[in-house]
Amino acid sequence: MIAPLLFLAGIAAAAVVDLESRQTAAQITTVDLAVNWGAPIRRASGILYGVPNTKNQIPSTFYTSIGFNYLSAGGAQFPAATGWIFGGYTSRFQNVLSNFQTARQFNAQFILKMSDLWGTDGTQGSNGVYPGANNDFVEYDAYLTQLVKDLKANGMTTNIKLLIWNEPDLSLFWAAPQAQYFATWSHAVKFLRANLPGVPIAGPAMSQAPSTSNTWWTGFLTRVKADNTAPDVYTWHHEAGSTDINNDLQTSQPAMVNMLNSFGLAIGEFVIDEYGNPSEQTPSGSAWWIARFERFNMSGLRGNWLSGANLQDFMAGLLWKSGSTYFANGEWQVYKYYAGSMTGFRVATTGSTDRLMDNFAVVGTNIVRILVGGRVVTGTYSLQIKNLSALGLPTAGTISVRTRQFSFAGTTGQEGDPTDLGLVAHTYTGNVLSFPIFQTDSATTWAFEFGF
Ligand SMILES: *[C@@H]1O[C@H](CO)[C@@H](O)[C@H](O)[C@H]1NC(C)=O
Ligand SMILES: *[C@@H]1O[C@H](CO)[C@@H](O)[C@H](O)[C@H]1NC(C)=O
Repeated sequence: MIAPLLFLAGIAAAAVVDLESRQTAAQITTVDLAVNWGAPIRRASGILYGVPNTKNQIPSTFYTSIGFNYLSAGGAQFPAATGWIFGGYTSRFQNVLSNFQTARQFNAQFILKMSDLWGTDGTQGSNGVYPGANNDFVEYDAYLTQLVKDLKANGMTTNIKLLIWNEPDLSLFWAAPQAQYFATWSHAVKFLRANLPGVPIAGPAMSQAPSTSNTWWTGFLTRVKADNTAPDVYTWHHEAGSTDINNDLQTSQPAMVNMLNSFGLAIGEFVIDEYGNPSEQTPSGSAWWIARFERFNMSGLRGNWLSGANLQDFMAGLLWKSGSTYFANGEWQVYKYYAGSMTGFRVATTGSTDRLMDNFAVVGTNIVRILVGGRVVTGTYSLQIKNLSALGLPTAGTISVRTRQFSFAGTTGQEGDPTDLGLVAHTYTGNVLSFPIFQTDSATTWAFEFGF
């Protein structure tokens, strides 16, 4: 449940000025209306698993309203301890096919977690089998041959990216030597490029973000450079939570660019195929991630913290159901606003220098919309909107700002459209409008709108 909120209504301009003077850059998130960042990418609207095996079980409006555009799956835990290595490939493949078809129905890209289909989805336990032991790939080649055949037979060679192994840097998913993983990667890429030419390869899907001190990454890049097996799309995960400030695109995106440059590798597309840990899966946390993905022009797929049958339901924690009737929770409402209302062109933004408050801003037809989001944080922050004259507004005056509140009652709590808290008039000078964001709990977030 959320804490009661004292909000903007009633705050006098003088009080706002006093409050701002106490703010440091650590607590200010900015918008620069004079810098156009182009069309919104809406690429934070991807999900990991979350799609039922039964097609159309979740009504299509839940997908279309959030701009659903990326799905990753591979039949994990369907059921546990199955997949190729346990003689249970066929049912997992049928599940993959169903998920792929749902993705295609909404024109979403599909990332196939090939290691799920193999059977190493985290449920394999000590009976897990890993390709390439003693450099023996006979069984893996049999699997790859079957997979290629099935992908071709089912029209699964477009709208798809082949993710070779999920989180090899965790023993939960790869309980074999590191060198064996690098050899497996190389082997699989060569096999797939020979047998499915043109189908993009994604990876390495490390649980840890790229860093020059991480041997999984440096070893991987060394290997793919040496034998020309670099992925078409680089992927990694950001699920380590908010306490590590480097668990952030602001660190990992430039780190990846620098590492690819230093290894002499091409800089292609980057996808975060799992983002957000459970504490960040709130309206506020999701808005923070949205701001990051939009700033770095990257795609992101929400992490999924459900398990068992729930893993393949509820759109990775955006929905719940009563009986068989689905309903939206407060996070889904954020994605709906992001995809449906935040049209026009993006304008430049910066996050607070403590990295815990951010915003995504668009200029639409005679309206500015700004979605703010804090990363598991409370406290008073400030939103600073610069260069109002870029919209044809005077450099000083009064602007009435509407606030929409996105509440959260947990993953299983139904929420409707954000609450319209009404208009508050703010005076401004110097071409800059500032007002506070009272982050009294870590889950609720807000959108601010004003006309021009
Ligand atoms: C926007 O405003 C800032 C000051 O608030 C100024 O430094 C900057 O040059 C402005 N940008 C443009 C493109 O005018
Ligand atoms: C993202 O794309 C916009 C529009 O092309 C561009 O202006 C901006 O510099 C890009 N941001 C990054 C971090 O590359």
